[in-house]
Amino acid sequence: MTKEKNSSAALLQIDRATPMPLYRQIYARFRTAIEQGVLHPGDRVASARDLASELGVSRGTIETAYNLLVGEGYFSSQGQAGTVVSPSLPAHRSARRERRRAEPHADREALADAEPPPPLQLGIPALDAFPRKLWARLTARRARATTAADMFYGNPSGYAPLRAAIAAYLLVSRGVSCHPSQVFVTGGYRASLALIAHTLLDKGDAVWVEDPGYQPTQDVLRSTGQRTVPVPVDEEGMVVARGMRKAAHARMAVVTPSHQAPLGVSMSLARRLQLLEWASQSKAWIVEDDYDGEYRYAGPPLPALKSLDGHDRVLYAGSFSKVLYPGLALGYVVAPESVCAAFGEAALTRSNGSPQITQAVVADFMRGGHFSRHLKKMRLLYARRRGMLAAALLKAFGDEVRIDLKSGGMHLIARFDKCRESDTELARRAQLAGLNCQPLSARGTAGFGDEGLLMGFTNIGSAAQAQQLAVKLRGAMGVR
Ligand SMILES: Cc1ncc(COP(=O)(O)O)c(C=O)c1O
Repeated sequence: MTKEKNSSAALLQIDRATPMPLYRQIYARFRTAIEQGVLHPGDRVASARDLASELGVSRGTIETAYNLLVGEGYFSSQGQAGTVVSPSLPAHRSARRERRRAEPHADREALADAEPPPPLQLGIPALDAFPRKLWARLTARRARATTAADMFYGNPSGYAPLRAAIAAYLLVSRGVSCHPSQVFVTGGYRASLALIAHTLLDKGDAVWVEDPGYQPTQDVLRSTGQRTVPVPVDEEGMVVARGMRKAAHARMAVVTPSHQAPLGVSMSLARRLQLLEWASQSKAWIVEDDYDGEYRYAGPPLPALKSLDGHDRVLYAGSFSKVLYPGLALGYVVAPESVCAAFGEAALTRSNGSPQITQAVVADFMRGGHFSRHLKKMRLLYARRRGMLAAALLKAFGDEVRIDLKSGGMHLIARFDKCRESDTELARRAQLAGLNCQPLSARGTAGFGDEGLLMGFTNIGSAAQAQQLAVKLRGAMGVR
């Protein structure tokens, strides 16, 4: 469909004012498109009848142009199957290159135009352990059952059964009690945060963000016009007293209480209560970014901060990127009842919402009990993979490495205190060797002095692979 469009009317701006006959113009445009690599050997072109009606010329005009192109070997007529650009033509060189870049696995009809993530990549779930067959079945069932009504605009706030499934899951698993109408489905965390800022904040408002923290939080808030105030994080999470000293009248705080990004600490109960008290006193909002709160390996997951929110100041932001997979591009916000109407209006003005069928498949996955089963499996798998990476690093580096294993999350922090090089330099060397470690120091402001390498362990397939990676890392870092 796209290919055909590409090869027909969109390419053919004909000019009725020039003396060149129309069939000749059409012939010349197709030739140029082939020579420039816009059309490729084997691409189907529109039928003479369709193109004639699209361009508002007679069918005979198109047929004359096509006959000329067939006669010269540019086109090949394939009877019932239509007309195509001759498969035997040599592909234009730059076009071939472009095509390879755009379609790395064209034979498998891959959707993504990106390479698979490199080893130790942060923040992605185990892509090898996702129940793809089951997902394909649920997707096919939904696709087959699509009705005309399903093809109309959906609710930009989210597909009702998914909102209900999320509310049910939050109550059971995260201790968050909300009505489905408080759940707003978005395109992921950044979309959630932008929706929150757009709905609740004004330009120039101050917002506390964690230092060190998740850079996209700052990026989004700056793009929506707020002023971010970095607030230090210690073993108990964001140091609320420091926030109050720096900007007591901030309108919002964004925190990752379950598993601080990137340090991995859980916010203590005392801090949670202090933060809630500040928000309630100063009528400020708290965004709880619970991106991977499900992954806790010692004991059950901690209840969400939102579960303690007696004054309705917390907006809970969830994402399916870690618990399902990031390509889904789905997240959600739970908004306090008092602002639900404003969120509904903002969702309506901002977009058509997320694809209905994807939301329906996620809802089916949740309601069928597959979601909780999947999370349970991933918790066990990640605990194992984390152990494999930690053991391999200890074996490869001995007492030169100090491994910071927090109770949850999808990455560990390896500290190389005896190394003279900075963590930025060590990460650069590792990345040159194809290992995607990230420097801890880069996640904080200038005053943040802690160093280490952040390493994702979720996609480590075996103990042998972990050992191989650790040895490679040691070589890349230049540790003798
Ligand atoms: C701290 C933090 N918040 C949120 C997210 C989820 O973002 P998204 O929904 O855009 O994938 C991530 C993903 O890496 C993250 O690290």
